[in-house]
Amino acid sequence: MSLYAVIGDPISHSKSPLIHSDFAAETGEDIKYVAHKVSSENFDDFVNEFFEKGGSGLNVTLPHKQRACKIAKHLDSVSKSAEAANTLYLNGDGEICAANTDGPGLIADIKLNKNTQIKGKDLLLLGAGGAIRGALISLIDEEPASITIANRTVSKAEALRQKFDKVLKINACSYQNLEGDFDLIINGTSTGLIDDVPALRASNLRKGSFCYDMYYSSGDTAFVCWAKANGAAHVFDGLGMLVEQAAESFFLWRGVRPNTEEIIKKLAG
Ligand code: ATR
Repeated sequence: MSLYAVIGDPISHSKSPLIHSDFAAETGEDIKYVAHKVSSENFDDFVNEFFEKGGSGLNVTLPHKQRACKIAKHLDSVSKSAEAANTLYLNGDGEICAANTDGPGLIADIKLNKNTQIKGKDLLLLGAGGAIRGALISLIDEEPASITIANRTVSKAEALRQKFDKVLKINACSYQNLEGDFDLIINGTSTGLIDDVPALRASNLRKGSFCYDMYYSSGDTAFVCWAKANGAAHVFDGLGMLVEQAAESFFLWRGVRPNTEEIIKKLAG
């Protein structure tokens, strides 16, 4: 049996053990997947010891996603660009490798589960923290017509604009200066934690618009409520992304792609 774990602080809320146990049952893979609370001071020691003792792979969640990149010898293109990783494993030479499956998980959920194309769309991203940084290169790869990043602290949106503007034209602004309407609006702010939403206007929603909250909760998130109340045509929270990023990690580790439909339905309750 191969051992996997998710590490973070806090960690008790994590649904990853449940998701990966379901994947294992569904694919017949012989794995054990547990959760460990690991503080920032203990991160390096824990990771090194985990792999030295024969552990096969780790998922890394807040607040360690940047550290996960630093401890790895090899980074995949998404984690390199995001400077954050959520998946660790060893290569054939026993060296730690890092990958970021958050971006691919978001894209898979939007395109495959929600049947929505990103190519050619005008995209509005809310926030410029870890969640948006993790998803940005994957979204750019989908070739939207434009990307606008709105953030409370404009300098953080501006830094992302400067980093990626060579690849695709990106606009950066505050919520006050946000103009125009958009096909796809993705919330990557942490405002949901305080049951709040970024200061958007209903006029930012284009007819037929698609609103996606990268976060989820058992009831509707504040952003999901806002989008529904303001007439967005399609509104989703990040539960599908959570399951899809887990599926991408499982595939990297095991070479087997689990079916995600049933577990998404089960978790949505
Ligand atoms: P995460 O890793 O979850 O993205 P983060 O890196 O701290 O966490 O980023 C949180 C994001 O939510 C940021 O874009 C933050 O805006 P600032 O860069 O201005 O801090 C945004 N955010 C948090 N609280 C907010 C609030 N009350 N209103 C608007 N944006 C908020």
